[in-house]
Amino acid sequence: MMPIQPNDVAEQFTKRFGRGPQYVVRAPGRVNLIGDHTDYNDGFVLPMAIDRAIWIALQPRDDRRIVLHSIEYDQTRELHLDGFAKDTFEWIEYVKAMAWSMQRAGYLLTGFEGVLLGDVPLGAGLASSAAMELATGRALAAAGNLEWEPIPMAKLAQRAEKEWIGVNCGIMDQLVVACGQAGHAALIDCRSLAIQPVPFPPGVAVAVLDTGTRRGLVDSAYNERRMQCESVADFFKVNALRDVSIELFQQLAHGLDDASRCRATHVITENERTLQFAAAMERCETHAFRVLMEKSHNSLCDDFEVSSEALDAIVACALSQEACYGARMTGPGFGGSAVALIQADKAEEFVEHTTTAYQEKTGNQPAVYVCHASDGADVVEGW
Ligand code: GLA
Repeated sequence: MMPIQPNDVAEQFTKRFGRGPQYVVRAPGRVNLIGDHTDYNDGFVLPMAIDRAIWIALQPRDDRRIVLHSIEYDQTRELHLDGFAKDTFEWIEYVKAMAWSMQRAGYLLTGFEGVLLGDVPLGAGLASSAAMELATGRALAAAGNLEWEPIPMAKLAQRAEKEWIGVNCGIMDQLVVACGQAGHAALIDCRSLAIQPVPFPPGVAVAVLDTGTRRGLVDSAYNERRMQCESVADFFKVNALRDVSIELFQQLAHGLDDASRCRATHVITENERTLQFAAAMERCETHAFRVLMEKSHNSLCDDFEVSSEALDAIVACALSQEACYGARMTGPGFGGSAVALIQADKAEEFVEHTTTAYQEKTGNQPAVYVCHASDGADVVEGW
């Protein structure tokens, strides 16, 4: 499937409103190469923004109404920026969430009318929520002529997700969706928010392995994991698990119950693997990918308990292909997607064989595709 092009979105706007849009904005999804469930422990992550995105074509209004039509749902929703409330959960909640967060931070917003189009699958572990929030943020900033500052906007989007949507998420998704860089993964220190772009070794491609299985939207299991990690940090009397070294952990871990010990083991070792992985990418040491990704997957499966049969199966299918450097589940887990690093020149057969092997093994219909590291949320020119 070809990613959506700016023209596609502009045309949809024209069809609906009888004239062209003033702006087309885009916010990408993301895939995380390694470092899951570490962000809310102030740790390290290595995601990249992808060439699948949420798009909005828009025209500012001279009042404070937002009128937005979702092509995918064939629904138009309206809201007034002076007063809107939480409603039954549907796509417009992400728009409300971001508008609420920006207004709360003091931004004076302007209304707009627009169309929304996207090819980031929902609930697939590819940060469709963060993409919705930042596409809204970018649209509102364009409509109101506001300066676009990616890091503060990412923080406002995270607050939107936590306080309006109800998922107590970390900063990874919103940050990479806002700050991604084409051709690079981003090594993020989730405490300082320092971002180091990491180039891909030549000949390496990234494949998303979507199991076709989905997790719930507001994930109580996710929030529960976060609480467990925070209570272990309290036990060690530190701000976050980031501050617990492997040595200290080994000395004192016997004082923890089994579940807490396992959760913390994952986080502490995953931080280390993420740093090692970024270093291996920079040195083009592709042979290191497999071991690190395998350890990460097993740790998410056995210690953090967020994998699923479908995720384990698709990772095994990917690893049995000759072209595969390494594979693991990605994102929050409980279904959704895995990620593989593969030989770019053998991508086509990798996609075909992994798809067939997984279908035969599970009976599920996967979506396996190569994606490219893209830029973060922005106004798109030249359509
Ligand atoms: C979700 C959250 C992120 C992160 C990942 C797991 O995508 O939004 O903050 O915690 O899960 O790594």
